Amino acid sequence: MQQGSIAQSSETVSVEPITPHVGAVVRGVTLGGDMAEHDLAAVREALARHLVVVVPEQELSAEALRDFTAQFGPLFLHHAGEGVLRVIGVPEVLEMRKEPDGKRLFGGSDWHADVTFRKPAGYLSVLHALIVPPVGGDTGFASTVAAFAALSPTMQDLLRSLKAVHSYDGPGRPDHPMETAVHPVVRRHPETGAEGLYVNRMFATRFEGMTEEESRPLIDFLDRHQSRPEFTCRISWRAGQVVMWDNRFTLHYPINDFSGQRRLLIRCTALEG
Ligand code: SIN
Repeated sequence: MQQGSIAQSSETVSVEPITPHVGAVVRGVTLGGDMAEHDLAAVREALARHLVVVVPEQELSAEALRDFTAQFGPLFLHHAGEGVLRVIGVPEVLEMRKEPDGKRLFGGSDWHADVTFRKPAGYLSVLHALIVPPVGGDTGFASTVAAFAALSPTMQDLLRSLKAVHSYDGPGRPDHPMETAVHPVVRRHPETGAEGLYVNRMFATRFEGMTEEESRPLIDFLDRHQSRPEFTCRISWRAGQVVMWDNRFTLHYPINDFSGQRRLLIRCTALEG
């Protein structure tokens, strides 16, 4: 992927890849629900090419984050209460907070994609940093397109024939029954045509027609394969930064290495249309 400006967009917009396979920093845009059409087009194009887009130095209220994200699809209403809170008055926006004496970092225990247990599933997650540790608390991202491309043709054909069952029991309360969706293991990007793996160990419990025991070795292999360093990038947070990612073709891993420090971000997720 080449660095450069994007055709048909503002001349001031620049796109700088972070690694060859995943991630780009987009400068010269101001995000929001009422942003300039050419800026939105530039973000969409960078997202299709690079799957993860970093936009530094933004100042988004929860309402503005919601309105920006809503341009990509219907918004997901999360089951808050498992280490995250909904922003009062803006229920589609989650507050992801870890205090200096906190232990758990939401989503920080495994590589995963957001909301794969639904159909339509999660498409775009948009995360805006408000308070970040001086060092630590980075988020890793992996391209499942690069991971799929690196597999042998025989393995690719096998995976194309499979579907996976994705399940989530929410906060584990009786008023939140288990959610389950079945998705193809290999998905094709609607704009670029690239194929990517769509299995994450946090939610994919088994392959359709197979038991969990039969499925586990292949899920474990794919988990290890997808998170190989050459398919990943690692984003260090700065206050004001926005990072958005395509959950259909990436995995992410928030790194819980900053005890004694505060980290506060707000997130909104659009589902596939
Ligand atoms: C998540 O959406 O899994 C959280 C990402 C992060 O806190 O870095």
